[in-house]
Amino acid sequence: MNVPLLDLKAQYATIKDEALAAVSEVLETQTCIGGPKVTELEGKVAAISDCKFAVGASSGTDAILNSLMSLDIGPCDEVITTPFTFFATVGCIARTGAKPVFVDIDPQTYNIDAELVASAVTEKTKAIMPVHLYGQMADMDPIMEIARKHNLAVIEDAAQSITSVYKGKKAGSIGTVGCFSFFPSKNLGGVGDGGMIVTNDEQLYNRLVIMRNHGSKPKYYHKYIGGNFRLDPIQAAVLLVKLPHLDDWSEARRRNAAYYDEKFKGTAVKIPYISPDCVTIYNQYCIRVPKRDELLAHLQKNKIGCEVYYPVPMHLQECFKYLGYTQGDFPEAEKAAKEIMAIPVYPELTDQMKDYVVESILSFLR
Ligand SMILES: Cc1ncc(COP(=O)(O)O)c(C=O)c1O
Repeated sequence: MNVPLLDLKAQYATIKDEALAAVSEVLETQTCIGGPKVTELEGKVAAISDCKFAVGASSGTDAILNSLMSLDIGPCDEVITTPFTFFATVGCIARTGAKPVFVDIDPQTYNIDAELVASAVTEKTKAIMPVHLYGQMADMDPIMEIARKHNLAVIEDAAQSITSVYKGKKAGSIGTVGCFSFFPSKNLGGVGDGGMIVTNDEQLYNRLVIMRNHGSKPKYYHKYIGGNFRLDPIQAAVLLVKLPHLDDWSEARRRNAAYYDEKFKGTAVKIPYISPDCVTIYNQYCIRVPKRDELLAHLQKNKIGCEVYYPVPMHLQECFKYLGYTQGDFPEAEKAAKEIMAIPVYPELTDQMKDYVVESILSFLR
């Protein structure tokens, strides 16, 4: 048997006719930039995120970059975030000229340890960027309390967590802004790059809209230095076809996760911890195991897709050496990076496939 980490062809087969018709509509009208598909998607993503406004972006990365730039974050500023994330979170902070400041993660959820954030605040801190990793939101209440106390912006990196819930609130609706990615492997994935920013702040929304068009308003008059951060209408067209399925797909992922949870009970496999405050969308199902690298090789030999998110924490990346962090600074992030691995959890998995994954893992550990 062959069980990939993700099977986008299986998903495409269920929406093919609609997707082709939607793309064809964009091609026929030759609305190549912006237009009704982008506007419609923005309205719908704002609505499902319980936010007033949404601004399309060319990627999740550009959603974050536009947010930072629109909040006027730059040289001399500090942004507190987690070292256990995808590069884009930290790369965007650094690209504005601001300094990424790390605090360690909670070893259970792998999200930023909210208790540690307060100790990292300095006079230069301008924002906190929690990341909602693998589909589960960070502990937002204490983060928002610190932000209010010090008048800081909160940028939710919700790239992996669209429609995820914390204490009844949707991802992106708690902070100053929330950033989503439509990278194809996300629960709501396009057929290329795409992203979106949501906010309830009208003034900031207006700025984000200007910034995505090189900071110009009216055209060719540049009050700000922005970028080309626009969402492609072909992506919007496909995402509009997929959006009505998002909840069902996330529910199927939760069912698959529950199936694994049950099978791994009482074994050496540490299953994901989901806080009672959260409803996760399981963009990834990540287990922790002894001899992780050997298990990876074993599963790959058995034709089972698996991946390490993420093998090197950001404070140990070569490009961030200038920040002055060293090995041992964030022990929980470093430990997680050595022990964690994602196994297939995508909605179209059959029980037979899941049994094969479970059996392959347990036979290795026995
Ligand atoms: C946590 C996180 N932040 C940011 C991004 C960047 O999104 P994109 O790949 O759409 O630029 C990703 C994408 O994988 C991500 O997982």
